[in-house]
Amino acid sequence: MRKIFLLLIIVLSVAQTAKAVKIVYGPYLQMVGETEASIVWVTDKKSLSWVEIAPDDKMNFYAEKRPQFFETFLGRKVLGTVHKIKLSGLTKGTTYRYRIFSQEVLDEQDYQITYGAVASSNVYSKAPLTFRTLDGSQNTVNFFVINDIHGNNELFNSLLKDVKKGETDFVLFNGDMVSHMDSEQQLFEGFITSAVNLFASETPFYMVRGNHESRGRFAKNYMEYFPTPTNMPYYTFKQGPIFFVIMDGGEDKPDNDIEYLGTAAFDEYREEEARWLREVVSSEDFKSSPFKVVVIHVPPTQSTWHGPLHTKKMFVPILNEAGIDLMLCGHLHKHVYAERGTEGCDFPLLINSNKQMLNVSADNKTMNVVVKDEMGKQVKTFVYQSVK
Ligand SMILES: [Fe+2]
Repeated sequence: MRKIFLLLIIVLSVAQTAKAVKIVYGPYLQMVGETEASIVWVTDKKSLSWVEIAPDDKMNFYAEKRPQFFETFLGRKVLGTVHKIKLSGLTKGTTYRYRIFSQEVLDEQDYQITYGAVASSNVYSKAPLTFRTLDGSQNTVNFFVINDIHGNNELFNSLLKDVKKGETDFVLFNGDMVSHMDSEQQLFEGFITSAVNLFASETPFYMVRGNHESRGRFAKNYMEYFPTPTNMPYYTFKQGPIFFVIMDGGEDKPDNDIEYLGTAAFDEYREEEARWLREVVSSEDFKSSPFKVVVIHVPPTQSTWHGPLHTKKMFVPILNEAGIDLMLCGHLHKHVYAERGTEGCDFPLLINSNKQMLNVSADNKTMNVVVKDEMGKQVKTFVYQSVK
């Protein structure tokens, strides 16, 4: 009888463990700035989640009660399965250790919430995860760019095998990382989980929306996974000598094309974005940067399709006045370099192939771009001098 009872206890505890909340995707860094950073992850059950941070000192993570950050909306902590916790009040150019927690919500009633087990990242038998805030006043920057991966994880892994914590400031994903968006699982299996496995828990990626990320039933969920300081897919950040203007060129065909099934309204969207762009290029932060780099998936040249033509009409006159050093694009699935002055653009365009990556490094005077193939072999180099 005693044996049966013990067996029942074991079976019940195994069942309990099997059912406990799990972190299924992430964590990955988003929106890392000088004084803020967001940590994103997904659990398999509705949870209340938080992040604890600690300085990167010699003290154990367990040395003291660490500050906790929650996702809040309209004054309430958010319960859900996608967790994006914004850490604010940070110091620029500083490394922080962090730990993530999700406590399962077993039952939620109007006046009663029952909580269950907690899933967390490990700081007991492993070193805590770390990240470093940006510093726009530091002298150097070093980053990678890839685009048009379309869910090819093998290609993704070979192009980004050399990302190194502490050496690579971040990675830019310049659009069409998946062929469309149909579910959370497809998005993570498309490229985010590979990014997490390679670097993204400790080195951030910055997302640039391609025309393919604007397609599919799940396209409306884009901002849940790629939060930005503007709450839009277009935003800016500065690291070292480079000011980055991340743009969204939208779809490539006219809004009434049958492929968009009556859902596209990108002309209006680009007009709104142009108003934002005008404000960006008039800011002191932008003007005072040694280098100004624009990143947009669909190039505003090399095509007479409606999207590129409208992008050119909306954005290029503003950018021509702004003194842009380089525009980075993708979309064409081949390497094309357009010198300053090509097709009315008063800045050079580097359109990266889907099978090559860019390694960009800069100091206050010089910006170097190295184009590398899948084997890591150097294919081309470009050098730019700051005209500021
Ligand atoms: Fe594209």
